[in-house]
Amino acid sequence: MRARLPIGVFDSGLGGLTVARQIRRLLPEEDILYLGDTARVPYGARSVRTIVRYSRNCARKLVERGVKMLVVACNTVSAVALDDLRAELDLPVLGVIEPGASAAVAASRTHRIGVLATAGTIASGAYPRAVASRSTRAEVVGRAAPLLVPLVEEGWVEGEVPTLAAERYVSPLAAHDVDVVVLGCTHYPVLRPTLEAVVARVLGAAARVVDSGEATATELAAFLAARAMQHPRTGSGVMGEMKMMVTDRPQSFAEVASRFLGHPVDEVELVDL
Ligand code: DGL
Repeated sequence: MRARLPIGVFDSGLGGLTVARQIRRLLPEEDILYLGDTARVPYGARSVRTIVRYSRNCARKLVERGVKMLVVACNTVSAVALDDLRAELDLPVLGVIEPGASAAVAASRTHRIGVLATAGTIASGAYPRAVASRSTRAEVVGRAAPLLVPLVEEGWVEGEVPTLAAERYVSPLAAHDVDVVVLGCTHYPVLRPTLEAVVARVLGAAARVVDSGEATATELAAFLAARAMQHPRTGSGVMGEMKMMVTDRPQSFAEVASRFLGHPVDEVELVDL
């Protein structure tokens, strides 16, 4: 019965849709219940205490509604609150940092991994820890890239300004022989074409970009299969549903989400946490 429940996905706002989109691409027959805490976004520069409190509220709301597991799409929450959520909740909780770290270690030849993320994620040391538990040789060079979130929120993802911002954050990685750059924030995959072009120019054509959301969807698929938790309609070709909840401005969320997911999103529920 539990396998029939949706996968709960939450983020500080709309950025987590990059993760939801990857889950949908890989597991189209699953139902997804998405929660974006749009009233309190951004989380990236807040204290650990506040982020833990906010993420507990988000997780509780999804659990109340009935989900079979939780995917914490937000890197900042995954960096500082995952252990608390796992200890408190009676269901599997998957974050984005561990899958991102695994994919980065697998992709790097120089064993130097660059991570772009919010100030909170970089300060937490979560990526270096996750990489160190997977490889004794690999090292992480982390850079907070605070300007990229507002650029994505503005929809300003191509052209001179995003390219200059990306160059500013990627250039210091060149001195460290980095050959893999992890997009360690929900919003950055929206800038992927720009970031990829800059990474190729600054770090060389062999350098790779790793999207932690994509790596998470791959790990989620393996997780569900290993535990017989896939939706019973898996293999039938019948698409699952995606429902969305936000804590503020459902209409503007619906507009951005439609653009983002490439199909109309008409119902976004306003909830209180
Ligand atoms: N969702 C956040 C993350 O992935 C970015 C936006 C925010 O700061 O809340 O780190």
